[in-house]
Amino acid sequence: MGKFYVTTPIYYVNAAPHLGHAYADVLADVIARYHKFLGDDVFFLTGTDEHGAKNARAAKVAEEEISEFVKKERQIFQNLAKSLNLSNSDFLYTSDQIRHWPGAQKLWKKLEEQGDIYKGTYQGLYCLGHEAFITEKDLIDGKCPDHNEKPQIIEEENYFFRLSKYTAEIKKRIESNELLILPETRRNEILSFLEEGLKDVSFSRPAKDISWGVPVPGDMTQTMYVWCDALSSYISALSYGSEDEIKFNKFWPADLHVIGKDILRFHGAIWPGMLLSAGLALPKAILTTGLIRVGDHKMSKTLGNVVNPFELTEKYGTDALRYYLSREIPVFSDGEFTQEKFEAAYEGNLVNGIGNYARRVTTMIKNYFDSHLERPEENVIASVPFRKKTAFFSESAKVNETELEYFSVPYFINHFILPKYHEAMRSYNINAAANLIFFLLGELDGYVQDYEPFKLIKSDKEKTHVVLWNLAYGLASFASLVGPFLPETSEKILEMLGVRGQKETDWKAFQIKESPPLFPRLSK
Ligand code: MSP
Repeated sequence: MGKFYVTTPIYYVNAAPHLGHAYADVLADVIARYHKFLGDDVFFLTGTDEHGAKNARAAKVAEEEISEFVKKERQIFQNLAKSLNLSNSDFLYTSDQIRHWPGAQKLWKKLEEQGDIYKGTYQGLYCLGHEAFITEKDLIDGKCPDHNEKPQIIEEENYFFRLSKYTAEIKKRIESNELLILPETRRNEILSFLEEGLKDVSFSRPAKDISWGVPVPGDMTQTMYVWCDALSSYISALSYGSEDEIKFNKFWPADLHVIGKDILRFHGAIWPGMLLSAGLALPKAILTTGLIRVGDHKMSKTLGNVVNPFELTEKYGTDALRYYLSREIPVFSDGEFTQEKFEAAYEGNLVNGIGNYARRVTTMIKNYFDSHLERPEENVIASVPFRKKTAFFSESAKVNETELEYFSVPYFINHFILPKYHEAMRSYNINAAANLIFFLLGELDGYVQDYEPFKLIKSDKEKTHVVLWNLAYGLASFASLVGPFLPETSEKILEMLGVRGQKETDWKAFQIKESPPLFPRLSK
């Protein structure tokens, strides 16, 4: 047991959240809940990035006063966190002058003290979508390919951050995995970017052009660059820069930043550079997800091809969306969202998968054992083992084939599923962990076919008791493991079996409670 600090990116509020934002939210939440389950003291941060030209422009288009505009938009992101059932400890927004500004300004001053902030003139192409300068070679047909927009040509006086000074040290930390970048492809990408040598970055904009932001300490004519402001939210939220930095001392460094691949350079280069300059510890890991695409394009507010996450949670339920995002979209590469795929996964794995299995097992216990099943002796439980070898068994070189015949359900779960599940979760391989849990469900279905308790009851009630105990034990184990992914479903299943709030070792009996279907069928 220890502490665990995990963050999502903070979201621009220039438009309502879409499925891409829900994605990082859900993945970070799965990890946060898993660490709570392990007993860690977890701090899970999310929030909104409210400064910068992009947000200011959106307020102007909406003809609203900027602070009112961001407040209203922020509320939608907060509603999203609720609608996704996030277990976040905090929600930080960067226009919070009390909670965020002192931390951002303290960090700036630290960089300045190191001689890493200097004034210069910048001329370049600024992409509003990225909120960053981009180079000529990034453009396709004169436009930023991610945002389908022409960059602005800007020449202005800025403060610069001496990022170049830190190239070698950042590279060393990434190569040694002290700063672990996942997946490997992204780690290689950032390493080859570092290979070219980092350039100093513009860290402020003239306040006359962009006044909506954190003022540069000691120079009111300049506003902090929105990325320098945003990255510091990871520590300002822990009260860095306030009088009492207890939370910062306890939780920093972050154990994990969950981000999308389009913002890797900011997190894998600029952020470590800032922390090194300030003499602060670097985050331990960065989990870089792929993007959710619609056809050939990234789903994006700027491109206008977004899927509204609220519509999905309202229509199918929170856990259905959490299921889709954590299992059906590959974490480490791009994934596609289509309504058809979503509905097929819902029907196939939730309604017919979990829902059907839970209903069959609990109905049999209700009908044959008056809803109550006592735990048999361990040797009796083990006397009705899995009969069939599975792909999982034969894949495992360590397993001797003759032993296979005798695996009991609890043995299989505790010795095969659990270690692999923990290994996958600890390495942030969320899909693999989810696949494993659903693999278990498939095996349990196989066990139903092995023994056909609905037939067995006619000839051998005692053995049927053991079979159903194993099936219910499997269901309860499934519910515990699926907890970080589908928290409501997990609770409902444990409630249905009468073991909610109990540890596995306390499962002395299952007492079935009537409950509605876990996942209603879609009306055609
Ligand atoms: N404000 C910055 C992040 C600052 S973090 C210190 C930002 N905001 S954003 O709203 O544009 O994007 C927030 C996150 O959403 C990013 O991780 C981005 O990758 C992610 N996504 C945006 N569109 C996405 C998809 N279509 N698919 C998956 N994730 C996507 O960048």
